[in-house]
Amino acid sequence: TVIRREDYAAPAYWIRSVELTFDLDPAKTIVASRLTVERHADAAPGAPLVLHGDGLVLLRCLADGESVSFRQDDGLLVIDNPPDQPSFTLEIRNTCAPEKNTQLSGLYTSGGGFFTQCEAEGFRRITYFLDRPDVMAVYTVTLRADKAKYPVLLSNGNLLEQADLPNGRHMAKWHDPFPKPSYLFALVAADLVCREQRITARNGKEHLLQVHVRRGDLDKTEHAMNALIASVAWDEARFGLPLDLERFMVVAVGDFNMGAMENKGLNIFNTKYVLASPATATDDDFAGIESVVAHEYFHNWTGNRITCRDWFQLSLKEGLTVYRDQEFSMDMAGSASARAVLRIDAVRNLRAVQFPEDAGPMAHPVRPDSYSEINNFYTATVYEKGAEVVRMMATLVGRAGFRAGMDLYFQRHDGQAVTCDDFAQAIADANPGSALASHLGHFKQWYAQAGTPRLQARGSYNEAARRYTLTLRQSGAPSPGQPEKQPGLVPVLMGLVAADDGRALPLKLEGEAQATGTERVLVLTEAEQTFTFVNVEAPPVPSLLRGFSAPVTLDDGLDDAALLVLLQHDADAFNRWEAGQRLSLGRLLAALPGDADLPPLDDAYLQALRRVLRDDTLDPAFKDQVLQLPSEVYVAEVVGSEVNPQRIHRLREQLRGQLASALRDDWVWAFEAHQVREGYRPNAAQAGQRALANQALRMLVLDAVASGDTVWPGRAYQRFKDAGNMTDRFGALSALVDAQSPLAEPALARFHALFAGDDLVIDKWFNLQATANEPASGGGLQRVKALMQHADFSLKNPNRARALLSGFCRDNPAAFHRTDAAGYVFWADRVLELDAINPQLAARLARAMDRWRALAEPWRSAAREAVARVAAAPRLSDDVREIVTKALDS
Ligand code: ARG
Ligand code: ZN
Repeated sequence: TVIRREDYAAPAYWIRSVELTFDLDPAKTIVASRLTVERHADAAPGAPLVLHGDGLVLLRCLADGESVSFRQDDGLLVIDNPPDQPSFTLEIRNTCAPEKNTQLSGLYTSGGGFFTQCEAEGFRRITYFLDRPDVMAVYTVTLRADKAKYPVLLSNGNLLEQADLPNGRHMAKWHDPFPKPSYLFALVAADLVCREQRITARNGKEHLLQVHVRRGDLDKTEHAMNALIASVAWDEARFGLPLDLERFMVVAVGDFNMGAMENKGLNIFNTKYVLASPATATDDDFAGIESVVAHEYFHNWTGNRITCRDWFQLSLKEGLTVYRDQEFSMDMAGSASARAVLRIDAVRNLRAVQFPEDAGPMAHPVRPDSYSEINNFYTATVYEKGAEVVRMMATLVGRAGFRAGMDLYFQRHDGQAVTCDDFAQAIADANPGSALASHLGHFKQWYAQAGTPRLQARGSYNEAARRYTLTLRQSGAPSPGQPEKQPGLVPVLMGLVAADDGRALPLKLEGEAQATGTERVLVLTEAEQTFTFVNVEAPPVPSLLRGFSAPVTLDDGLDDAALLVLLQHDADAFNRWEAGQRLSLGRLLAALPGDADLPPLDDAYLQALRRVLRDDTLDPAFKDQVLQLPSEVYVAEVVGSEVNPQRIHRLREQLRGQLASALRDDWVWAFEAHQVREGYRPNAAQAGQRALANQALRMLVLDAVASGDTVWPGRAYQRFKDAGNMTDRFGALSALVDAQSPLAEPALARFHALFAGDDLVIDKWFNLQATANEPASGGGLQRVKALMQHADFSLKNPNRARALLSGFCRDNPAAFHRTDAAGYVFWADRVLELDAINPQLAARLARAMDRWRALAEPWRSAAREAVARVAAAPRLSDDVREIVTKALDS
């Protein structure tokens, strides 16, 4: 069944308060629920009360203490004749089976403890309820469980009491004073230890912060705690949003479908985003923890205090909260250059994941119009493109204007369940003179239209008149259900760079009294608009869409000479990087037709990259980004149709090989010059040095293996053995695996032995092999199949399953897209196998085939056949069915 946004209606009843009592038992947990129900003012007295329920056994149901007749209808509990008073009490008693819950939605067991995940619709798997985000209630929760097995009993809010009970059991009672939707409910009952920190907020209030983990993991919680402390301080300083609870808890669990969950006062995290030590986690892992801890904490205001009216508004909280966590990470990183590096990462990720989504069968607007399974809409579009939409608003109203808009948003809507429109309206209303306010209708197309808009720019310079005219055009390709696209509002942050010496030219638009500096935002609202700059003293190269000011694809028609100017001189670090990417991309695209090898790289290109690598005014992290080639997935997306994944892989490998050899001396220098001498800190400065050194090592090993030299592979193996931190150890290991060095196998074996039993590190071991650089003719698939038989492998653990299966099917295109279709057969088998265990996870894996239609033959037909086989399988979950039927229908 398809749910549509336009069908939204307020419920006939509200639930104002909830008292829950849990008798926790893995096989059969008893849930007693006492609800204060209030009829909606518009509903008729005695209107039917319809509650959600999924996989529950109902034991009893009383209304105002009297038995009431009910029926169960396809997952719903219908009470046809509830009391006809404006409010009444409903008492429900039911059971559920946590240990049988392999979907990990609702109440489930992991590592001998109980955990919950209720977003989006997991609460109905715990008890019958109006499980929708606009129903907000105050919760009081009593937990009862065996004390020895489950010494820690947690739920949202404040602890009211704790006591021992007969038979070795104990109880804890929690109360959350803030009304919340059911998706924010959480409980934990487990044998955990915790790191604690007391902090005093600006207003003098004391708070207790806790990070709960399994015994033995306490030494890996310092970074998460630091990130939490920093997040609390940042939200108060930047947005005036204080912590509103006495106690704030983070709990880590090893089996978790997503990254983490923002349950009020009791955030539950995938261990991947909590546990870190220098010996076991890489710089990327540390950065991931910082950003996810911040993300979940920031949801306390953007998501929890103000929540979503319905799930179509998911980006209201997710887009905004991603924007906030991105800003936090940038502020934590410090320097302008470190900020740019984070921005580059975000855009890389957007292009690798969101752009393909927007061009494929699952394309949907940031605010979708329909869905069959809401879990399928926790997407890069809702999250990352949603964050870009918020970022564009901030660009249009400025930093202070955005803060004023946020203030107004909280003033108007604190405690409410609202819509994306409400948010945009608040930002616009707080900035009445802004382009956002005057073109709000155009701007809101970003919420309504799917697909990545295309921005074309063409400029011409009139030397005699010293005028530069720039014509911008926007257009959008059709997407499922949206054949025609309307012009939106595209903020184009830009500058003009003198072609001769790279200086920033003053910008004065025709009709303006004076120049307004060297950078400005052009606001495009029509299908086509021309901007004329006057007093332009030299032929300019346009630097458009600086900092990626809008999530579009840009066709600016610039040639290599112009791109070389930008790479060397642009004042905007993002566009310098982009110019480098474009130069690399251009060489790949030019070589794509036919099947000849990549021609030798030209000197201008090599010199430009060498100059960046050797430039000591540039940060290592930025250089690392510039030297990193566009991914195979991104290249495929730019190609768009008749994609030959093997051809792309081969040419990109040849490009990498040429860069490795042509810049060999420079790589040697870069490796030596970027060794971190002081003790390990997971900060941006050190991480940048390690990233560049690791890239250099990778290139050196690659070049050595290609030329039969053994010195660098030997050095890499030594470094792998001796490294003092996981970033360097894993960097050296991946260099050996990437180059297919004979030392890769012994290193992999040694790595496994060294970290046996450390789940998060063993995930890396699986993932590295799943993504190993091997052409389709190679043993990639055989290796993955063998790894599925490994004693450490389990389909039931999401991190492990993702590491191996998504690693292979989604992140290793060259090994996956085999001409014999064996990769696709493997994919279909795994999707079906996983679907019986965990549909959410299966649906994610299913999306590996989203872009089958863009493939060339023979891949396209083989891929289609595999998708059709999954679609035809009996007993498919709604999750997987939605993905594969959309893939076939598109
Ligand atoms: N709200 C969580 C976050 O963004 C993600 C929860 C996802 N849950 C799901 N069932 N898809 O932090
Ligand atoms: Zn979120």
